[in-house]
Amino acid sequence: MTVHFIGAGPGAPDLITVRGQNLVARCPVCLFAGSLVPREIVALCPPDARVIDTAPLDLDAIVAEFVAAHDASLDVARLHSGDLSVWSAMGEQIRRLDALGIPYSVTPGVPSFAAAAAVLGRELTLPGVAQTVVLTRTSGRASAMPSRENLAAYAATGATLAIHLSIHVLDEVVATLLPHYGADGAIAVVVRASWPEQIVLRGTLSTIADKVRDAAIERTALILVGPALAAEDFSDSALYSTDYDRRFRPNSQTGLIRE
Ligand SMILES: C[S@@+](CC[C@H](N)C(=O)[O-])C[C@H]1O[C@@H](n2cnc3c(N)ncnc32)[C@H](O)[C@@H]1O
Repeated sequence: MTVHFIGAGPGAPDLITVRGQNLVARCPVCLFAGSLVPREIVALCPPDARVIDTAPLDLDAIVAEFVAAHDASLDVARLHSGDLSVWSAMGEQIRRLDALGIPYSVTPGVPSFAAAAAVLGRELTLPGVAQTVVLTRTSGRASAMPSRENLAAYAATGATLAIHLSIHVLDEVVATLLPHYGADGAIAVVVRASWPEQIVLRGTLSTIADKVRDAAIERTALILVGPALAAEDFSDSALYSTDYDRRFRPNSQTGLIRE
């Protein structure tokens, strides 16, 4: 028996991995985080599966489901939105499983920042413009930020920032970013990336707050900021340069692939 943690992806049901889909289709128990896991993925569970939305449950109740499945030798598909490596609450669940000696596996998913970048059609790391992406958030009711992790410090680097869980404090976010990226700094807000109701707002630090207000956006949005969102005059990467060392692709000039 294994608890399989599965990243369900950002919303579109076909953005789960093949491995994740296969696990959901064969596990007799499925626990899913109700607010952001699409129902089409939950519908992949076997017809007689025990399927539970964990949104109203606390950690003890979720662990009780793991223990009951373990006692009955039933594999569990545990679905969380996006990827499990960020803001999934997987850490506290696997700590309990470790203590109980219950085996688990982790199958990654497409994170929301990648889905948002895809919607925008942008590479977030452009040569000479930005080579770092910071996945961050602002303090929430349930989670205070560690004191050394603050938005101004990340903004001072000029990197691309992907700011989660913060659309409700956009005015504060913009005020913090302004001194570092400037009033003309490129920013985008992507709401429910890859869902049918997806909204994309592009602007500058001086225009974005009004656009978000006009669209009445309050949740499930990603704020992306940094020069990589708008830059056009960046250099080509060395990777495809004709002068680049050819140790790994000796036939690249002809496009010929050696067998
Ligand atoms: C609890 S976190 C989950 C993050 C998730 N584990 C991931 O890999 O992206 C929820 C936050 O992620 C962002 N988010 C999740 N799904 C999103 C989507 N489809 N479009 C835009 N932002 C999304 C929002 O900032 C939202 O408030």
